[in-house]
Amino acid sequence: MNSFSKEIVTNTPEETLGLGIKLAPFIGIGKIAYLKGPLGAGKTTLVKGITEFYKCSQPAKSPTFILVTSYFGDISINHCDFFRLNNSEEIFDLALEEYLEDGNLIIEWPEIGEKYLPKPDLEIILEHTDLSSQRKIIIKSNNKESLEKLL
Ligand SMILES: Nc1ncnc2c1ncn2[C@@H]1O[C@H](COP(=O)(O)OP(=O)(O)O)[C@@H](O)[C@H]1O
Ligand SMILES: [Mg+2]
Repeated sequence: MNSFSKEIVTNTPEETLGLGIKLAPFIGIGKIAYLKGPLGAGKTTLVKGITEFYKCSQPAKSPTFILVTSYFGDISINHCDFFRLNNSEEIFDLALEEYLEDGNLIIEWPEIGEKYLPKPDLEIILEHTDLSSQRKIIIKSNNKESLEKLL
């Protein structure tokens, strides 16, 4: 996960959503993205951009107790949020691979079960800065060429 790494700064939630739209083509069917960063960093905001790009009938939102929420559009966006995962072994019961047949997997809080998760195609790390509406977003991937053109 080191061949490509780029840092981007966004200054509004809309810019983070826009980054999600730009990254969406790299997270198509069969692809896996990890989203890391503390609460409020903008992970779900970025997923909203992905559901918008794929014309899903609803925008992504923060789940309360559900571990995987699917949004249906041109492809299925399968949004995992493992913040409330009690036991990393619960991931086995989710049969995540099956979601990859007609969609992707976008995983918030992968740290909580990383050893049981499939490896990601893209890793996105979001951080707060000293400015309340600013975020530092680091994108890592092995798909160097196409991402370099895009970002
Ligand atoms: N530049 C920014 N990018 C993303 N969100 C931002 C930004 N500035 C402020 N925010 C706010 O931070 C919050 C991010 O929430 P959310 O996307 O649910 O975060 P997470 O999923 O990481 O917990 C939202 O209330 C959003 O309006
Ligand atoms: Mg979230």
